[in-house]
Amino acid sequence: MKKILVTGSNGLVGQKLTDSILSQSNFYLIATSRGNNKHPIQKGYTYIDLDICDAESVKQVLKKYRPTAVIHTAAMTNVDSCETDQLACRTLNVDAVKNLAEVCQEIHCQLVHISTDFIFDGESGPYTELDKPNPLNFYGQTKLEAENLLVASSCHWVVLRTIIIYGIVKDISRKNIVLWAKNALEKGDTIQVVNDQWRMPTLAEDLAACCLLAIKHHAQGIYNASGKDMMSISELVEEVADFWHLDKSLILPISSNGLAQTAKRPKRTGFVLDKSMNNLGYRPHSFKEGLAILDSQLQQLNQPSTI
Ligand SMILES: NC(=O)c1ccc[n+]([C@@H]2O[C@H](COP(=O)([O-])OP(=O)(O)OC[C@H]3O[C@@H](n4cnc5c(N)ncnc54)[C@H](OP(=O)(O)O)[C@@H]3O)[C@@H](O)[C@H]2O)c1
Repeated sequence: MKKILVTGSNGLVGQKLTDSILSQSNFYLIATSRGNNKHPIQKGYTYIDLDICDAESVKQVLKKYRPTAVIHTAAMTNVDSCETDQLACRTLNVDAVKNLAEVCQEIHCQLVHISTDFIFDGESGPYTELDKPNPLNFYGQTKLEAENLLVASSCHWVVLRTIIIYGIVKDISRKNIVLWAKNALEKGDTIQVVNDQWRMPTLAEDLAACCLLAIKHHAQGIYNASGKDMMSISELVEEVADFWHLDKSLILPISSNGLAQTAKRPKRTGFVLDKSMNNLGYRPHSFKEGLAILDSQLQQLNQPSTI
């Protein structure tokens, strides 16, 4: 049986990974995150309160459990906070990865690391794995530094680059754009949404599946792992409105210059997915299919999308 250790298991991707790993009998899960376990299922696996920045504890836990693979999802993911608290961002997004890579190398364990489209400047998307990164903000810079240190390390690493992750889990600490837009439009709020940034939004379940495919195929190297549909952020929100029959007149398209965000964002990212589709068998859902999956989950949870 393969032992898989997940970092940041309380997060969106972390909780979806917990679901996927628990549904497969050939895996044993060691879920780790900061604080108490937020996943609704609390049995059938090991949960450890682990701060990924505590290098010594990380070392101890990995050496004790000796997992076959570590899936590293914990990160400082708020792009504007990364700009204003650069020390915290570097500690989490770079230093913690360096420590993990060193321990993984020592115990001969595969390290699956999640990276981002924000390593690119957005001038020539969609990007292949071979295109040259040029981050515009500190978050992207630290995620690229982490990639580069893995490339230079001798550990068995794989980097999965992804874009705007959406989905629903219980007790999520960070709202994603689909739930934010749905909730605001349901309340009748007008929302300003940029119409000059293009992305390929990713269903959290698809990324979780890709992590497990990377382990199954003993993948090494960089792989794109996003959704397959390119759209502007305002088109994305319009699709959300269409899907749930919400009032589209509440959506106010705006240019990036009009929305004074702390961190600069790339214009057009998006990924060419041929490598992960051909080599790993990655099959992402369309954005419409993703919304339908989310809708059925919301109905099952029988709770408003404000969580
Ligand atoms: N979200 C996106 O749109 C997006 C896009 C591209 C790439 N990515 C990358 O995808 C990965 C997963 O993102 P996500 O959306 O699942 O993020 P998320 O929902 O913010 O989850 C991250 C989890 O890590 C935990 N964490 C933070 N600091 C920690 C620490 N020091 N020690 C242990 N756990 C810690 C957080 O804890 P709390 O629950 O206490 O906050 C949270 O549960 C990240 O590497 C991110 O950079 C995300």
